[in-house]
Amino acid sequence: MRIVSGVQPTGRLHLGNYLGAIRQFLDLQSAPAHDCFFFVADLHALTTIRDGATLRSLTLEIATDYLALGLDPDRVAIYRQSSLPQVTELAWMLSTVTPMGLLRRGHSYKDKIARGLEPTHGLFAYPVLMAADILIVGAERVPVGRDQAQHLEMTRDLATAFNQVHDEPLLRLPEPMILPDAALVPGIDGRKMSKSHGNVIELFAPEADLRRSVMSIVTDSTPLEDPKSARGPLYALLKLLTPPEEWAESRRLFTTGGQGYGALKTRLLGLVLDTFRPARQRREELLRDVGFVESVLNAGSERAATAAAPLMAECRRACGLAG
Ligand code: ADP
Ligand code: TRP
Repeated sequence: MRIVSGVQPTGRLHLGNYLGAIRQFLDLQSAPAHDCFFFVADLHALTTIRDGATLRSLTLEIATDYLALGLDPDRVAIYRQSSLPQVTELAWMLSTVTPMGLLRRGHSYKDKIARGLEPTHGLFAYPVLMAADILIVGAERVPVGRDQAQHLEMTRDLATAFNQVHDEPLLRLPEPMILPDAALVPGIDGRKMSKSHGNVIELFAPEADLRRSVMSIVTDSTPLEDPKSARGPLYALLKLLTPPEEWAESRRLFTTGGQGYGALKTRLLGLVLDTFRPARQRREELLRDVGFVESVLNAGSERAATAAAPLMAECRRACGLAG
């Protein structure tokens, strides 16, 4: 099965990215029948990051983090979105069949404008570019968090419109893969964890920064001896990171009382450090070998181009463009 997904290099990876998306990438790469494409969405990040040096280094950092977390370049293609010119080419073709009304209904555009981002055409057309990422490699499944569900629906709508206009089943309709338990990981303030909300627990921050983030998780004022609420982000994050066989014990600490929120946060911090300790070590090694990360990205773009080129030739032919 053909799989594709990407992460924008608009900041550093956090628990939401890992639990909602990257954890799925790792599971998927293990199945020999899967043909996986995982990229760094640098063209998308261009809608918000205006400094070339910053974008270049964040892009390399996300690629390094993919590898540190265990993505295996022998099994999956890891590449920069901007290395695949067919993506922007297909995006233009798709934009000619994209109804304005569909883009106007986009939650992500509305959220970004509400947050004060400048309403550019790039932000507005973001879902078209995302559809191109997915359709150009003929993906059947797209592992993402729930915030991307609408983008996946739009991708299917655009593929259908393109196929109808050209009267040929050129583009395959993909399905989202959303993990029900980690569809929307809460941030330390209880809203969706997101780089743009400044409420993240980063995967690779120095330990002191991680401690600060975890200790800032919002809680209520339940006294130490009373049972604690299972509604806030602390409970949800603990549940997501606690190994299933230890969950009964963690849950008991919430329901029986006698344990302050501080102790529960310390427990969460321990879990974050334990879960990512091997990845943190690998990351240190990779940071000393930028040449290796670059070589992985180059090999990945070649693999992605091999998947994209024949489909692009078909699309050009169907549209009547230069072959
Ligand atoms: P961010 O919102 O921090 O900018 P991205 O938009 O780059 O993150 O998301 C990359 C991937 O991580 C997407 O598949 C997205 O759905 C997933 N993701 C991001 N935040 C969360 C979250 N809080 N819960 C679940 N999945 C998430
Ligand atoms: N839009 C996604 C996000 O903000 C990132 C992304 C871009 C993506 N292109 C993609 C995800 C293609 C899956 C498939 O998180």
